Amino acid sequence: MPTTKKIAVLPGDGIGPEIVGEALKVLDCLRQEFGVAVEIEEALVGGAAYDATGHPLPQETLALAKAADAVLLGAVGGPKWESLDYALRPERALLGLRAELNLFANLRPAVLHPQLIQASTLKPEVIEGLDLIIVRELTGDVYFGKPRGIRTLENGERVGINTMIYHEAEIRRIAHVAFKLAGQRKGKLCSVDKANVLESTELWRQVVSEVGRDYPEVALTHLYVDNAAMQLVRAPKQFDVILTTNLFGDILSDCAAMLTGSIGMLPSASLNESGKGMYEPIHGSAPDIAGQNLANPLATILSLAMLFRYTLNDEATAVRIERAVDGALNAGVRTADIYSPGTRKVSTSEMGDRVVAQLRAQAA
Ligand code: IPM
Ligand code: MG
Repeated sequence: MPTTKKIAVLPGDGIGPEIVGEALKVLDCLRQEFGVAVEIEEALVGGAAYDATGHPLPQETLALAKAADAVLLGAVGGPKWESLDYALRPERALLGLRAELNLFANLRPAVLHPQLIQASTLKPEVIEGLDLIIVRELTGDVYFGKPRGIRTLENGERVGINTMIYHEAEIRRIAHVAFKLAGQRKGKLCSVDKANVLESTELWRQVVSEVGRDYPEVALTHLYVDNAAMQLVRAPKQFDVILTTNLFGDILSDCAAMLTGSIGMLPSASLNESGKGMYEPIHGSAPDIAGQNLANPLATILSLAMLFRYTLNDEATAVRIERAVDGALNAGVRTADIYSPGTRKVSTSEMGDRVVAQLRAQAA
């Protein structure tokens, strides 16, 4: 008997519950048809948790996330909670989970599904065959650096302060993750920094170069972040693995997402030292379309595939899910964000059903 793995499921806010609902349909099918041994437990996170308990990351939720083998998260945030104190905003839950679970390695693949080439705003020849992955450091940098805050000076003027800081050890451990990954792929690693201006990333460049000596099989290059942003839209296929800081990774991954047609397609994994992870789509809670059965559930379903690949070490199930998504796209169904003439527009739940149907067909 395989041991049953436990997944903490945190739907969150906005479209979160809808898209996570579709991923859970996929999980149910995997259990029924393929005997995948997982159990789930749901908990509140973000604005939904704040409304129910007064805190976006309640102790019970954090305890559940810590006890589970992996976490599947939908999205957090929305206009309803935007005027709250920073410490109580839904986004704090996400940052709290990342910090508390020590999820320092964020993997954000940007892969073009060939069926969606028309959905991208870029020319087909620029993105055809695109397959890159951004490795974003996730628990350091200006996101967590201290001091931080808004202070009032003696003359009454207010100042906003954040601290961009990297410890050598933080850079080293994420660099190892990126080099290993590049070694398993095309052997190309591009490290992105702003070493011409920022000392924290001058150190970044030094340490990444030092770590690189352990990986002679990987070709290491460096780019400044402004140039990297330009190269991403100019000629994105030059990249295999991009390694970058927390802040730059946040920005570049949204940019990379649009190369693939829609941010609604991009999954992510956030891993700790031992491979435990939190899995979530890289898009947000999309309050404007929440509750309307319009959102694209594929980024969440693909995040579930990453969960099987990276935390449960079940590559076969990961591939099964990815093939099912591919199959649904081949069948011509599209949610609104990836629609193009000649395809059929479907709802969130129908897209989930179509992926499940593809999975069942694999079992038959
Ligand atoms: C992301 C998001 C988060 C981040 C927000 C919601 C805190 O934009 O995961 O990219 O900035 O890391
Ligand atoms: Mg972001």
